[in-house]
Amino acid sequence: MSEFVRLEVDGGIGTIRLDRPPMNALNGAVQDGLLAAATEATERADVRAVVIYGGPKVFAAGADIKEMVDRTYADLAGRPLRLSTACDAIAAIPKPVIAAITGYALGGGCEVALAADLRVAGDNAKLGQPEILLGIIPGAGGTQRLARLVGPARAKELVYTGRFVDATEALAIGLVDKVVAPDDVYAVAREEAARYVDGPAVALAAAKAAIDGGLETDLASGIRLEAHLFAGLFATEDRTIGMQSFIESGPGKAKFTGR
Ligand code: CAA
Repeated sequence: MSEFVRLEVDGGIGTIRLDRPPMNALNGAVQDGLLAAATEATERADVRAVVIYGGPKVFAAGADIKEMVDRTYADLAGRPLRLSTACDAIAAIPKPVIAAITGYALGGGCEVALAADLRVAGDNAKLGQPEILLGIIPGAGGTQRLARLVGPARAKELVYTGRFVDATEALAIGLVDKVVAPDDVYAVAREEAARYVDGPAVALAAAKAAIDGGLETDLASGIRLEAHLFAGLFATEDRTIGMQSFIESGPGKAKFTGR
């Protein structure tokens, strides 16, 4: 996979583990590793949900500024950042994806967390888009995903100032979904992911595609997208199992196959 990023699969959960101490600064090798891990998590049938974790101290303090310092306009213009491509690949994993955030999730680190479906944070977490302090703006989807998650005014205030948001505020504005003790972050993120491991995988993928796809379009188109995805689920084994199980045994007892 990569020196700095591993996909560890256990109990149906694929953990994308960032491992570049001390701050998990996202250099090119980490960015490529993230893309490879997201692709593998997408393709592997034994991965039914994903956790992205930077270890017990830090999620990631952003793109590697030391690597970026000599980049020119010509180096960057007209092509997506590799980190942006990696974040898009994470967002496109057709399975539930949970970011497990300890410590800093800044700049590109926050953008990786924003590409997940849900975020579990330690009470020591500090999130933010401090790129403005470097004279730039977020470049891996931050202006787009942050605004969609917390609303344009809050996103603008955070991007204009570059200030850090602590876990309490992050929870209040919906930037994270759960706050726990830092030592519990990974276990709680795994618990969240485990809820989906035996679920109807195709329906979970359809739910993600409908919600994410619908947010990118007008209501009528979103409802049409939902209708197509809804109809398609009637071709799955799990839809037959789910409805027969309800009729025979009542709600919530179905043993899905993921097909
Ligand atoms: N890139 C490269 N190196 C980084 C880094 C980064 N993003 N963040 C931290 N480091 C390095 C530091 O330079 C330092 O290295 P040395 O030991 O060699 O000096 C080491 O990690 C430890 O950092 P600090 O000594 O600064 O630790 P601290 O506890 O005092 O502060 C911090 C931690 C608040 C995270 C601070 O390091 C910081 O502000 N980092 C930069 C955060 C940032 O601006 N991120 C955005 C990057 S740009 C981006 O991500 C663009 C994009 O959208 C794609």
